[in-house]
Amino acid sequence: MKQRLALPVGITATGQFYPERIVTNTDLANLVDTSDEWILTRTGIRTRRWVEPGVASSDLGAEALKMALERRGITADDLDAIVVATVTPDMFFPCTAALIQHKIGASNAYGFDVNAACSSFLFGLTTGAGLIAGLGMKRVAVVGCDVMTSIMDKSDRNTAVLFGDGAGAAILEQVEEGYGILDFEHRLDGSGAPFLCMPGGGSLHPSTAETVAAKMHYIHQDGKEVYKRAVRDMAEVSRLMLDRNGIGTGDLALFVPHQANVRIMDAAAKRLELPSERMASNIGEFANTTSATLPTALHQSVETGKLHKGDLVVLAAFGAGFTWGGALLRWV
Ligand code: UT7
Repeated sequence: MKQRLALPVGITATGQFYPERIVTNTDLANLVDTSDEWILTRTGIRTRRWVEPGVASSDLGAEALKMALERRGITADDLDAIVVATVTPDMFFPCTAALIQHKIGASNAYGFDVNAACSSFLFGLTTGAGLIAGLGMKRVAVVGCDVMTSIMDKSDRNTAVLFGDGAGAAILEQVEEGYGILDFEHRLDGSGAPFLCMPGGGSLHPSTAETVAAKMHYIHQDGKEVYKRAVRDMAEVSRLMLDRNGIGTGDLALFVPHQANVRIMDAAAKRLELPSERMASNIGEFANTTSATLPTALHQSVETGKLHKGDLVVLAAFGAGFTWGGALLRWV
């Protein structure tokens, strides 16, 4: 199999962190006009985690990264760079990478944030790998962290039931030939912007009393359009990578799709003719944590013994922009 990167780069450790507070569908039914039955059958979500006030993305990301460092047996000082994937930075600037760097004391690392909505971690992963393969860095952390409750209208049943807060982290290093990131495919289509966005608070509509009154600082989504595109596009890029590497579905150990809706995930897996046992799923317990879905699903697959050295893994993501893509890995 041909390796796309100039050097083989792979994930050598993972970590995760969720806030303690568990919010059930029944809890939400006390806030908005919804039901456990509607949420479960339409999305597959049973519970999600919400932060307490004052807890930000960098707090979750720092904890997830500490776990990944510990699992790898290295210290924060061993990192050359921190790439943070998030759509809910603590602030517009400084970047969340800086805040995490300070929190964990990574005195030798530089860093920056990547925002490609739900594809942020995927794009951050290959960007981080590029820092090793192209710029000669030794150890790069990629952290996906989001506090979705900070941009979610808790009185809007269309979005309030879908998201959760959480973080996942991965350590990237040069690995053996034939392992790590074998291939990737990334896409961008800005005509999708109106279908999923947070319109207020940026340079187009800076925050004013009017933008806040119009709830422009919250997520706006045309769920149906996003749904259709997510199924089609995640399946398409995954198939493309498998085909061009001569990999049959039967050879794939694990499909790790973005966790936005179990129906989307199942439909994409079905198009790939993959049985559900070979699809990583944490949406039922944690809902859609945006930038954290892929690294946490990977971490949990490792921890539960579903992912072993040599396994072929496909990551697939779809998000606002539209942004989407995939990566094919041989697990280290
Ligand atoms: O990670 C970013 C990418 N985001 C996604 O991938 C999300 C993609 N979209 C989806 O997951 C689904 O479209 C949703 C879960 C958002 C909605 O599911 P759906 O099967 O597409 O439902 P729908 O939008 O067709 O809504 C059906 C009905 C509507 O009522 P009417 O207009 O038919 O009377 C909604 O108002 O369900 C209503 N509804 C709800 N009812 C109870 C919407 N949200 C709720 C709710 N509880 N929470």
